[in-house]
Amino acid sequence: MQLIQTDSLTLEPQVAAHADEMFAVLSDPAIYEYENSPPPSLEWLRERFTKLETRHSPDGREQWFDWVIRLPPSELIGYVQATVDSNGKAAIAYVLSSRYWGRGLARQAVQAMISELVDYHDVHSLSAVLRRENFRSMRLLERLGFSLASPEQYLQHRVEPGELFMQCEIQRP
Ligand SMILES: CC(C)(COP(=O)(O)OP(=O)(O)OC[C@H]1O[C@@H](n2cnc3c(N)ncnc32)[C@H](O)[C@@H]1OP(=O)(O)O)[C@@H](O)C(=O)NCCC(=O)NCCS
Repeated sequence: MQLIQTDSLTLEPQVAAHADEMFAVLSDPAIYEYENSPPPSLEWLRERFTKLETRHSPDGREQWFDWVIRLPPSELIGYVQATVDSNGKAAIAYVLSSRYWGRGLARQAVQAMISELVDYHDVHSLSAVLRRENFRSMRLLERLGFSLASPEQYLQHRVEPGELFMQCEIQRP
């Protein structure tokens, strides 16, 4: 994994040492309007980041890619994440502090992660699962070229009622 630079952001490979600063970012209640909940404690988050820093699942079948998003010169403002299987399929997720929504920064970060995964990690298929009412997330995915998956794929991926499954196939030249 390497550091990624975009026009306005730096994506740093996430390590346990980011936990202190990320605890404040991830304590923003607006992030959890549709799903999940804030980290219960700093210790919990440090342990989670330590586990993710291994960069793969215990059975070795999945690669874990996590980058924290830094808005230079200093502040951490969120993260992007991908779980990649041995067939080049990536399940992605992303979170941005609500103070920074509406500026196109999430799009810039997620696009940069996708380019990195495609160019250097043999990813050719991307997917994301989101709550139906999470319109910000849906708009972001649509702007990035994602579309709703087929009914067969919904069954295959055991999508829960109230969730959307969106995907994007990368066309190689
Ligand atoms: C999902 C999430 C990352 C989207 O953040 P966002 O800031 O809305 O996303 P984008 O980067 O695509 O920004 C789009 C907005 O920036 C505006 N914008 C401003 N400048 C822009 C630019 N140069 N390029 C693109 N969009 C720009 C767009 O018009 C759009 O505004 P709108 O919200 O009024 O439609 C954010 O809402 C979030 O962290 N949510 C909580 C966690 C979550 O739900 N994660 C997803 C789970 S699947």
